[in-house]
Amino acid sequence: MTDRNSAIGVFDSGIGGLTAVKELAKLLPNENIIYLGDTARVPYGSKSRDTIYKYAAQDVKFLQSYNVKMFIAACGTVSSVLADDNDFCDGLYTGVIRPTVDAACNLTKNKKIGVIGTAATIRSRSYERFIKEIIPECEVYSKACPMFVPLVENGYIEKGCIPTEEIAREYLMPLKEAGVDTLILGCTHYPLLCDIISGIMGEGVALISSGGEAGKFAMKVLKEKKLLSDRKDKGRIELYCTDSAELFEENAQHFLNGLDNVTIRSCSLD
Ligand code: DGL
Repeated sequence: MTDRNSAIGVFDSGIGGLTAVKELAKLLPNENIIYLGDTARVPYGSKSRDTIYKYAAQDVKFLQSYNVKMFIAACGTVSSVLADDNDFCDGLYTGVIRPTVDAACNLTKNKKIGVIGTAATIRSRSYERFIKEIIPECEVYSKACPMFVPLVENGYIEKGCIPTEEIAREYLMPLKEAGVDTLILGCTHYPLLCDIISGIMGEGVALISSGGEAGKFAMKVLKEKKLLSDRKDKGRIELYCTDSAELFEENAQHFLNGLDNVTIRSCSLD
């Protein structure tokens, strides 16, 4: 049985879902959070739907063993490819699509929204479909950015990093030229490239973090269901990864700054 003081379960293919953890830790510092980054199998974005389904089900099963009160797929790929079949998860669940699309539709003034994500995310057209449900006349410009996840996982994230700047310019110029005023960072890894992306898109373009929006949305749902913790102490953040914990710590350094009460362990999913 879960209750209000059970942990919140968050998963992603790698370190990107920590954008949701950061938001949760900021908004709800007393919550325990269990995170799984499937670093041994990242990226998910180049895999088939069936493989992504199998991985998501295994990720959820792992979190289930910690009796979590809510599952967050802090992964744009899982959320969009499996947008219509969440039956891999038995319990309170959110992906990133709906919260992110709501934020983008609230922000856009010229009704031109850009979406960037992994190849699988863009192929699924889920962001586009959800946007059109809210603003049917919205012009949506989508672009797969398959090189971004490996660049982030390997730490090529600083402004001025020439390979990342060049690849980003190649991906983003068509969206800039289309005149989008809002850009959905549809993969939870991408906020780490925020400086580079905003440098190219310009200050007038609002960037929306899908992980951050999922964190805010989860808080709303837990509040509505009266499932927010009543713990007085600071919550614990337990991070699990399927590859080396040392490597995870090294690659996730940017996320970990400012978070305390964190432990990192390696785990296996079988
Ligand atoms: N953070 C994941 C996402 O949002 C990374 C994708 C991948 O593993 O390819 O899609």
